[in-house]
Amino acid sequence: MNAKPEPAVLPLDVERIRADFPLLSRTVHGKPLIYFDNANTSQKPVSVIEAVDRHYRQHNANVARAVHTLGEEATASYEGARDALARFINASSRDEVILTSGTTQAINLVAYSYALPRLKAGDAILTTVMEHHANIVPWQLVAERTGATVKAAPIDTNGELILEKFFEMLTPEVKLACVGHVSNVLGTVNPIREIARECRKRGIPLLVDGSQAAPHRRIDVQALGCDFYAITGHKMLAPTGTGALWARREHLMAMPPFFGGGEMIREVRFEGTVFADPPHRFEAGTPNIAGFAGMAAAIRYIEDIGFDRLEAYEQDLLAYATKAIENLPGVRIFGRAKEKEPVVSFLLEGAHANDMATLLDLQGVAVRSGHHCAHPLMHFFGVPATLRASLAFYNTKTEVDGFIEAIGKVRKLLL
Ligand code: ALA
Repeated sequence: MNAKPEPAVLPLDVERIRADFPLLSRTVHGKPLIYFDNANTSQKPVSVIEAVDRHYRQHNANVARAVHTLGEEATASYEGARDALARFINASSRDEVILTSGTTQAINLVAYSYALPRLKAGDAILTTVMEHHANIVPWQLVAERTGATVKAAPIDTNGELILEKFFEMLTPEVKLACVGHVSNVLGTVNPIREIARECRKRGIPLLVDGSQAAPHRRIDVQALGCDFYAITGHKMLAPTGTGALWARREHLMAMPPFFGGGEMIREVRFEGTVFADPPHRFEAGTPNIAGFAGMAAAIRYIEDIGFDRLEAYEQDLLAYATKAIENLPGVRIFGRAKEKEPVVSFLLEGAHANDMATLLDLQGVAVRSGHHCAHPLMHFFGVPATLRASLAFYNTKTEVDGFIEAIGKVRKLLL
């Protein structure tokens, strides 16, 4: 008798996982919650909530400035989060990981500390039409102050970057390229390795906005070959106000501080201040110590599941949700890229996305509607808003069924 082959990836025990997330069992308007707004922020497992709680109950003190026991414990916890992050994204050194409040702060740090001192009139920054505002507006602010311009590479109607156009636009005036790893609206996964290779050939540094990628796929900044990589903690189970910027050491060493203050100096005199080396040079003031205790716990949680299992589960769920949404009458789906993370943006003919989201909330369904902080992308598709279901590994096919049923009820009210 032939033994049944072992599956390549052990399946997720999603019911067990759901039990770790207290919020998932609450009701909204008397209905069981269906939380499909994960691209906006993820829910948190008990281990993360407890790590924050434990910090305040047992270890609360400021970091890197007190020799007492609590100060040492808080510092060890904070620096431990940096180690965990360095491992999580495969940085070659922990000193290349700057702890920030999220991707927005990380990108602004590069804008003001790397780009602003270097750019001049006639230079350009190349980004793409599918970016979140956090990867557009900081570059516009820097461009305004330097006389540089911001150019955006086009996408096709499937929501994929037109790579040959992007490469064509990497002209000698371009001094920095800035690309999202995964689109928050379309779920499109951009081919970062290929993009990084082309940028490197031309000596153009590449910043990657990894906010929507890090919750779903293993990030290896060395293998990707980029220069800067920004991530957000709260989208990957960690508390709000946590995130990181990874950057190559040579860039960090050449960058002046963005914020000045305590704990980012070696010596302060009124004649001149000597700054600390990276990463502390970029971490002035008291950081979100409790938040990073939660961040370390979030990384442990994801690592315990393993990205192989997480990705296999999410891709199956995405395929199921896409098929179910495709079957809705009068539906238009935005984002048909070959490689996607679990996000489905769509509209139903005759129904406004915000009305739909409001009525879905009454059914216990949380989805985001609107422009998703991506105005240029909305202009490209010629719509003011979409309805977006963004999924996580703790969502289920039963929830997708519940979502489709709720849409059916909402349609009856609206159409
Ligand atoms: N919070 C943003 C979103 O919902 C990034 O997509």
